[in-house]
Amino acid sequence: MIGIIGAMEVEIESIVKELQNKETINLKLRTVYKGTIDNKEVVVVLAGIGKVNAAITTSILIENFDLTSIFNIGVAGGVNGVNHKDVVVSEGVTHHDFDVTNFSDYVRGQVPSLPPVFKADENLITKTINALEKSHIEYKVGLIASGDQFVTKKETIKEVLALYPNLYAIEMEAAAIAQTAHLYNIPFIVYRSISDVLGDEAQHLDFNLFVKDASENAFKVIKEVINHL
Ligand code: ADE
Repeated sequence: MIGIIGAMEVEIESIVKELQNKETINLKLRTVYKGTIDNKEVVVVLAGIGKVNAAITTSILIENFDLTSIFNIGVAGGVNGVNHKDVVVSEGVTHHDFDVTNFSDYVRGQVPSLPPVFKADENLITKTINALEKSHIEYKVGLIASGDQFVTKKETIKEVLALYPNLYAIEMEAAAIAQTAHLYNIPFIVYRSISDVLGDEAQHLDFNLFVKDASENAFKVIKEVINHL
C-alpha cells in the first residue's frame, strides 16, 4: 500500500479527490482516506504543520497500514534558482534546525545514531524523473531541509545556505517523515513545489498566491508516478 502525507488541506485535497472506492478511517489522532488510484491501494493523511505532527502521523500510518512506500507532497520555499511552481524532488532530506555539533563529532542536521541526510529511494527517484521528463513541469532533484519555522529572515536564509550550499527547498515536515520512514525501513520520496522563493520581497504574499498552483503541480507528479508503479 502507498502512503501519502501532506501537512495542509490544500496539499492533499486533489489526491483525496482522485481516490476511487474511497473509505474514511477515523483513527484516534488522524483521519485516513483509503482508496485506489490506477488500481493501486493508497492511503492519504493530513499531518498538520511541523515536524512533530509529521513524525506522529507517519508513525500512525506505518503502524496501521502495510506500507510499501511513503510519499510526502506539498509546497516549500525555494533557493538556488528554483522558481514558483517548480517541483523539487528529494535526493535526500535533512533537519536544518537540529544541532548537536558542539556536543560531539556530528554534522549539522544529524540526529545522533542516524545518518546526516536521509536518502530517498533510488527507484522512486528514477520513476519520478521519467514522469517529470514527460511533463511540462520544471524540476530539480536535490537536497530538501526541514525545520520548525517558516523561513523568511535574511539571516536564517544565509545561515542555512552556508550550511547546505546544494539546497533547493526548505519546508517544515519532510525530514521528520524521512526519519520515521528510515527507522521503519520503508522507502520514501518527497515532492515539494515552490510556493515562495527565499529572500524575495513579498514572500508571505507569494505563499498565499502560489500555494494552490504549487500544490497542484506536486499532485500532478505523484499521480503520474503512481500510474507507473
Ligand atoms: N513552506 C513553504 N514555504 C516555506 C518557507 N519559506 N519556510 C518553511 N516552510 C515553507
